[in-house]
Formats: sequence, structure tokens, C-alpha cells
Amino acid sequence: MLLEVRDLHVEFKTRDGVARAVNGVSYSVDAGETLAVLGESGSGKSVTAQAVMGILPSPPGRVTAGEVVFQGRDLLKLKESERRKVRGAEMAMVFQDALSSLNPVLSVGDQLGEMFMVHRGMSKKDARAKAVELMDRVRIPAAKERVKQYPHQFSGGMRQRIMIAMALALEPALIIADEPTTALDVTVQAQVMELLAELQHEYHMGLILITHDLGVVADVADRIAVMYAGRIVEQAPVREIYKAPAHPYTRGLLDSIPRLDQKGQQLYAIKGLPPNLMSIPPGCAFHPRCPMAQDICRTDEPRLNKLDNYRQSACHFWEECLDG
Ligand SMILES: Nc1ncnc2c1ncn2[C@@H]1O[C@H](COP(=O)(O)OP(=O)(O)OP(=O)(O)O)[C@@H](O)[C@H]1O
Ligand code: SF4
Ligand SMILES: [Mg+2]
Repeated sequence: MLLEVRDLHVEFKTRDGVARAVNGVSYSVDAGETLAVLGESGSGKSVTAQAVMGILPSPPGRVTAGEVVFQGRDLLKLKESERRKVRGAEMAMVFQDALSSLNPVLSVGDQLGEMFMVHRGMSKKDARAKAVELMDRVRIPAAKERVKQYPHQFSGGMRQRIMIAMALALEPALIIADEPTTALDVTVQAQVMELLAELQHEYHMGLILITHDLGVVADVADRIAVMYAGRIVEQAPVREIYKAPAHPYTRGLLDSIPRLDQKGQQLYAIKGLPPNLMSIPPGCAFHPRCPMAQDICRTDEPRLNKLDNYRQSACHFWEECLDG
């Protein structure tokens, strides 16, 4: 297995109290595989990714338990200098907002080229040639001319392609893409997602794709992990989740996607709000919002049960949920 996150816990100490952002997350990704991580805003998707990458803002954030085993070693046990070597070269991240991730005063060619000069010891000329090659690779038209331009001279979609090029530069084994297309128009979104999926395939990388849009992941992901209040509540191959979710929260997310075949129907949105992470409800954290909740849900926390070799659900009533 390329990456195995085991029982990860992350807390944020704030003036108002301790926010338990990640509460025992375990997931894994293999080479060539795409894991989609799904969940509403605040469910802990990004914080989990930051802990994996080693970029958790700390303080206030702190990993309080767990392991991040990447290519056989627990990254949480490495010194910062060693982790820095892993970052960029072995695992890279693509963020939602390219404009704030790219350096506004350096040309795109200089930023891409720097990766090769710093990490591969290339000359400026060779690094520039590599930058153009990468820009071609992510299908930026007229790469040779545009390599001299600055980030603000590119459209949102093109900037996102540059981010992907930066992430790919050193051919990492794993890419974490955190809402890589959220800021883009729908058509551009699809193109960027397609490109990312294609490159992931070609380079046989592991890809963790964070999104709150179930519609986006259907075509590109192999498995989905659904997060709620810092926990994984369901994990399954994409097709099976679409066929029949084994958790009421997943069902709610699925029912919230617009479907072409049900035009005009009102969208079901999950009622209520995600919990305050400083006081997560006892029992099943989803119980105040769950249409299937029973008494036991208010007192007993459901464990993430294995339904079969590929599938897990943290619901006392997963069988009833599967049956619809
Ligand atoms: N820098 C921070 N300081 C304090 N609390 C934080 C910080 N970053 C995250 N948190 C806490 O962790 C929770 C989970 O945040 P996270 O960014 O992982 O959510 P997310 O699932 O990525 O949501 P979104 O879909 O909005 O990106 C937040 O709701 C917040 O309580
Ligand atoms: S355990 Fe209970 S409250 Fe939680 S999702 Fe299942 S039915 Fe709903
Ligand atoms: Mg996020």
C-alpha cells in the first residue's frame, strides 16, 4: 500500500476550547488508485490532508494520535527536515486557489523551473525547457511563449493546470488534490478533472481527491471515503455507493446531487448543520440530523464496521439503509 493513514486524531486548541477536527480517520491509497474524500464543509477533509502532507498549522493544530505510513515509513515520526524532502518530491498537493498558491511576482516558467533547479540540480536553461515541457503536458496552449508570463495573466482553468504541473514536476508517488476545481466554471471543471485523471493514470500515481461534490467523483474515483465530524462514516467502491449507500449521511449527499433524469424535482438537502467540533454529540454524531435515528444512536457510537472486504459503514442500521 502506498499510503495508510491509521486512526489519525487532530485537535485545534482555540480560545473557545478544543476543536476535535479529526477523530480516528483511517484510509489507504494504492499506486494508480484514486480515493475520493467527501463530506460537507468542516468535516475534516483538509485537516486530514494537511496532517498527511505535514503542513498542519501548528499551533493551533496538533496530531494527538495515529500514524501516516507512506511507502513503509510513519511520516509522523520523521524530523521536519526529512519530511520536507518527502513533500514535493514524493507527495504533492494541488489546492483550490491557484492564485494564492502561486508566487505573483515570479513568471510561471521561473516557478516551474525552480523545482528542477532546487531538487534536480538542473541548469537554468534545462529547467526552463522542462517547464515548457510540463506546460505542454498539462495542455497549456503556446507554452513556449506563455512560460514567461505571470500567474495573473492566466485564466482560472489555466492557473489550475499550472498548479497541477507544479505538483507533477518531480513525479511524486502521491498527489492530494483539495477541491482542485471548485473555483472554476462547470465546463472548465470537467476539463481540469479529466486532465488530472489522465495524468494520474499515466504516471500511475495514487490520488486523493477531496471534494464536496459527489457528481465530480463518479467518473474518476475508484473508492469513496465519506467524512462526517472528523470521522469516516462510510467507505466503499464508487459503483457500490451509487447503487446503494450503507449510511444515511451518504444517502443524503447522494440525494442532494441534481440528476438529469429528474429535472424539476426539488433537491433533498440534509437538514440541519454539521456539529460544533468542540461539542460533538454523543452516540452517533449524525443523530440530530438523521432520518433513521433510533434511541441507541443517541447513546452508542457506531463503529466503522466491515460489511465485506471492500466496504465499511459506521451506522447501527446499515443493513436497513442498504435496503433503502
Ligand atoms: N487553522 C485552524 N484553526 C482552528 N481550527 C481549525 C483550523 N483549520 C481547521 N480547523 C477546524 O477543523 C475543522 C475541519 O476543517 P477542514 O478544513 O478539514 O474542513 P473541510 O472538510 O476541508 O471543509 P471544506 O469543505 O469547507 O474545505 C474546521 O471546521 C475547524 O473547526
Ligand atoms: S447510527 Fe443511527 S443516527 Fe447514526 S447514521 Fe445510523 S441510523 Fe442514523
Ligand atoms: Mg477543505
